[in-house]
Amino acid sequence: MARFTLPRDIYHGKGSLEELKNLKGTRAMICVGGGSMKRFGFLDRAKGYLEAAGMAVEIFEGIEPDPSVETVMKGADAMLKFEPDWIVAIGGGSPIDAAKAMWIKYEYPDCTFEDMCKVFGIPELRKKAHFCAVSSTSGTATEVTAFSIITNYEKGTKYPIADFEITPDVAIVDPELAETMPKKLVAHTGMDAMTHAVEAYVSTANCDFTDPLAIHAIEMIQKDLVASYNEDMAARDRMHNAQCLAGMAFSNALLGIVHSMAHKTGAAFADYGAHIIHGAANAMYLPKVIAFNAKDETAKKRYGVIADYMHLGGSSDDEKVKLLIGYLRKMNDDLNIPHCIGKYGKDSYPTEQGFVPEEVFLERLPGIAERAIGDACTGSNPRQPSQEEMEKLLKCCYYDTEVDF
Ligand SMILES: NC(=O)c1ccc[n+]([C@@H]2O[C@H](COP(=O)([O-])OP(=O)(O)OC[C@H]3O[C@@H](n4cnc5c(N)ncnc54)[C@H](O)[C@@H]3O)[C@@H](O)[C@H]2O)c1
Ligand SMILES: [Zn+2]
Repeated sequence: MARFTLPRDIYHGKGSLEELKNLKGTRAMICVGGGSMKRFGFLDRAKGYLEAAGMAVEIFEGIEPDPSVETVMKGADAMLKFEPDWIVAIGGGSPIDAAKAMWIKYEYPDCTFEDMCKVFGIPELRKKAHFCAVSSTSGTATEVTAFSIITNYEKGTKYPIADFEITPDVAIVDPELAETMPKKLVAHTGMDAMTHAVEAYVSTANCDFTDPLAIHAIEMIQKDLVASYNEDMAARDRMHNAQCLAGMAFSNALLGIVHSMAHKTGAAFADYGAHIIHGAANAMYLPKVIAFNAKDETAKKRYGVIADYMHLGGSSDDEKVKLLIGYLRKMNDDLNIPHCIGKYGKDSYPTEQGFVPEEVFLERLPGIAERAIGDACTGSNPRQPSQEEMEKLLKCCYYDTEVDF
């Protein structure tokens, strides 16, 4: 038996933000990030629509990128005071993910962060509030997924909360919100979406319901991501749908070790002055993980199917895997994303000497590898890496060396 869960309603297309007018409730709390939604007028519009729906509205703002456990607890306190029956999260993956975790704590004030992290262990929600997510980036697709990623800064690591209980009730996929993204954000979130689709397609939990979503998302991202990066707004709009399809696929088919590695390296070198941004980490690690996973015959065939849909040519699956890896690396070049941690600058752009010193990377490697193996995304990867293999793989991601094991 398998389960396939999506939000009850997905409103999409330009102007769909206005659907907020039709939510039925009395009190809405809007959760939002640091300023982009306010700056571009979307926050005011959202508030106006909710008020037009007859609701009292309170705003919880200032949710930081890669939200922390502390922010989640603060937001939940605000909810306990205001007692909303709608939580409306608007922005990128960070505010929406944080709001999902706040929602759990609001419904179950005794629930600790550790409790939340038990995979598929969230108690029944919606006793106090329903949840609407409005995405402003084209990548995480958290508006349709059963996931929330929260960072524990003390441990320097990201924890995925995973349960269909936190799949939003309503998703609004309005491309107007994505049009204001700066180029770098387009690049990172777009490669995050590509990684979601590819990992979902080769995941051991893939099924007839998720495959078409993953494949169509891959075709669309191949066609539109680089154009969107180069400010083609029609392509930007289509990318907003493409990332959402990828999200529908991975929320139900799960992910793989590209994400495990991205989760565990993202904040691991924060003391050296930067994060390895989620989408950029995925973009760098995906070609390496494809080479590693392709040693599994079933995965290799599936990568071959992806390459066929992308019209990459090749006459054997081995050749197709090589062409797929080459194509993804070329996308990274076109999007100004480095190929490895060693060349990842503080500003996320390629540079000769990245911000993570080699000796620090090597010293932390065993711990990072162990935590990556233990990440919730590892279980559905087509090949289960040993500690030694994970360390070797991460080294290939640091030095940009070939994966031949
Ligand atoms: N829940 C999931 O299923 C899932 C999946 C993948 C990643 N994630 C998590 O999501 C987070 C990343 O989310 P993200 O990539 O969407 O970015 P983000 O939400 O962290 O936002 C990054 C920056 O972009 C700005 N921004 C957002 N939308 C904008 C717009 N339209 N115009 C201008 N600026 C805008 C924000 O203000 C912020 O400064 C990470 O914590 C990652 O781990 C979650
Ligand atoms: Zn992701």
